[in-house]
Amino acid sequence: MSKLWGSRFTGRLSRLSEEFTFSIAYDSKLALYDCIASIAHAEMLKKQKIIPQKDALALIKGLKKIMADIESGKFKCDPKSEDIHTDIQVKLKKLIGSAADRLHTARSRNDQVVTDVRLYCLDHLEGILALIEGLQIAVVKFADNYQDVIIPAYTHLQSAQLVLLAHHMLAYVEMLERDKGRFDDAAKRIGTNTLGACALSGTTLPIDRNFVTQKLEFLSTSANSMDAVSDRDFVIELLSDIAITGMHLSRMCEDLILWVTSEFNFITLDDAFCTGSSIMPHKKNPDVLELIRGASSKFPGRLVELLILMKGLPLTYNRDMQMDKPALFDCVETLENMLAVMAELFGGIKVNRERLSARVKDEYFFSVDILDYLVKKGLSYREAHDTVGLMAKECLDKGQKISGLSLSQLKKYSRLFELDVKRLLTPEASVRGKKSLGSTNPVMVSSEIKKWKKRLH
Ligand code: ARG
Repeated sequence: MSKLWGSRFTGRLSRLSEEFTFSIAYDSKLALYDCIASIAHAEMLKKQKIIPQKDALALIKGLKKIMADIESGKFKCDPKSEDIHTDIQVKLKKLIGSAADRLHTARSRNDQVVTDVRLYCLDHLEGILALIEGLQIAVVKFADNYQDVIIPAYTHLQSAQLVLLAHHMLAYVEMLERDKGRFDDAAKRIGTNTLGACALSGTTLPIDRNFVTQKLEFLSTSANSMDAVSDRDFVIELLSDIAITGMHLSRMCEDLILWVTSEFNFITLDDAFCTGSSIMPHKKNPDVLELIRGASSKFPGRLVELLILMKGLPLTYNRDMQMDKPALFDCVETLENMLAVMAELFGGIKVNRERLSARVKDEYFFSVDILDYLVKKGLSYREAHDTVGLMAKECLDKGQKISGLSLSQLKKYSRLFELDVKRLLTPEASVRGKKSLGSTNPVMVSSEIKKWKKRLH
């Protein structure tokens, strides 16, 4: 059993305690980041002449060899090591001998682990940003391919008004853009170098923390050694950003799941993203979408787990904080998988044009357009609302289409009606009629698509 402590102890940790406290089973994901941070630390120790030059060079060489093993997949961590930091230390000693014992100079696992976690977060943040952008590109492409398609939009899940399918899709692109903004912003706070805080109070040795900050490409150097080893705000913040993105993906899935039902039947998913039923041979289930929706539920759970983990901890490091890693890794990797599969899925969506063009013919979709017509002729909004409401009710009751009303029948509802009102009663006129900034107007939507294509490619 490898540990980096022990000389103070006469007895040894029980086997069950070891199994219970060791984190190697999950923190091995930090291996690469641990080496990167250790190399910067060793370079600093060398520059400051805190350790002999030849030992420093041996440390750097040995760590680079371990890094190469990690990158090529040759590195196998020993489950008998307490954690990944210990494991790398042990491996380094086997590789370079007693010089390895100098690596932990002016360092503690407390500042080491938090620095590793920061490097992990920054690295994965880059990947997450690229994956979100990949999904945005897939959604914009889909919107672009079906620019002429009009669909019903809903409030309260009741048919409300008509919009361009592309307009609906670009709503997702906006959400994802805000998500990217949040991740970008989190990177500022994650990007603080905490190495050199040591156990909690700093060190008597003449280290150069800013040198390490530069080497590791951090944005700043932490200003308070106690805060440095106690802080997991950045993990909680990242999980909160992940939870919001997950919620967005889940809502996208929910729309698509509704749209593939036989009741809606707006779109068809590629077989590659669906499964069948073991008993009902006609079924094609949108399992991938359902599992993205389902998986997103873990994010708020994990976020709350970490808030509760931290809220009762006195300063500074407490071993409880080891538990941040399963939550962090789980959320980061799940989100990455969700984003990748969602982008792929968008490439395989077919729009059921015929079904949709039949669906958008219902004239009640145009009620607000008729109402605006009366307002433009001088009626107050309230009066216009009453007028169109009565007209809609009577037409629905009698099974009468508004487009079938004669001029005198129209005038019964309002003397302001002329036959030109019937020009409003097509899906195309309805979307074209919207003129306000950010509306579903086809010219505006098309220029939004152009804007996104330019911005994302
Ligand atoms: N495995 C520990 C963690 O993940 C590393 C730090 C241990 N530090 C200590 N003083 N026991 O938090």
